[in-house]
Amino acid sequence: MILIIYAHPYPRHSHANRHMLEQISNLPDVEVRSLYQLYPDFNIDILAEQEALSRAELIIWQHPMQWYSVPPLFKLWIDKVLTHGWAYGHGGTALHGKSVLWAVTTGGDAHHFDLGDHPGFDVLAQPLQATAIYCGLKWLPPFTLHGAFVCDDETLEGQARHYKQRLMEWQEGRRG
Ligand SMILES: Cc1cc2nc3c(=O)[nH]c(=O)nc-3n(C[C@H](O)[C@H](O)[C@H](O)COP(=O)(O)O)c2cc1C
Repeated sequence: MILIIYAHPYPRHSHANRHMLEQISNLPDVEVRSLYQLYPDFNIDILAEQEALSRAELIIWQHPMQWYSVPPLFKLWIDKVLTHGWAYGHGGTALHGKSVLWAVTTGGDAHHFDLGDHPGFDVLAQPLQATAIYCGLKWLPPFTLHGAFVCDDETLEGQARHYKQRLMEWQEGRRG
């Protein structure tokens, strides 16, 4: 099962992420948990989240980039759900052997993240990558949709098809 932890603060106003979710909506064995719709009061149901993670083989962290980081509810989700004794530490093996894919959309184009005035994209990925590895997750090459502000619907749809392709390839790989 593929579990998408989706953290868009304004899902109804999304263009890029909405296209991505629409593309994958007819794939089998994919569950989407839209955190901002599930928890508008930021009161995360930790057990429900852990149960969903337990069912998943591939976990996707999908969100728009905000200030070179993750939206606040997703940060809270990490803090609350990845608990000691469950995700890490003594007996904390619940996530071992699963894979994680960071699927992030950005307003900046790919060159915006070239090393120079801004940190490179790989640098920005490091806190999530380190978190994943610490919890025994396998970190897959991220999926990025850059330049979301300037992409027209056709371009967004093309990018979203690439996203679907990534998921289908992963599913086919599992089937062998
Ligand atoms: C508060 C806020 C902070 C943002 N920070 C960044 C940023 O640091 N880098 C960037 O490239 N885009 C940034 N953006 C742009 C969003 O990443 C972009 O609007 C989003 O990925 C588009 O996806 P959507 O159409 O699904 O909303 C920011 C947007 C908001 C609202």
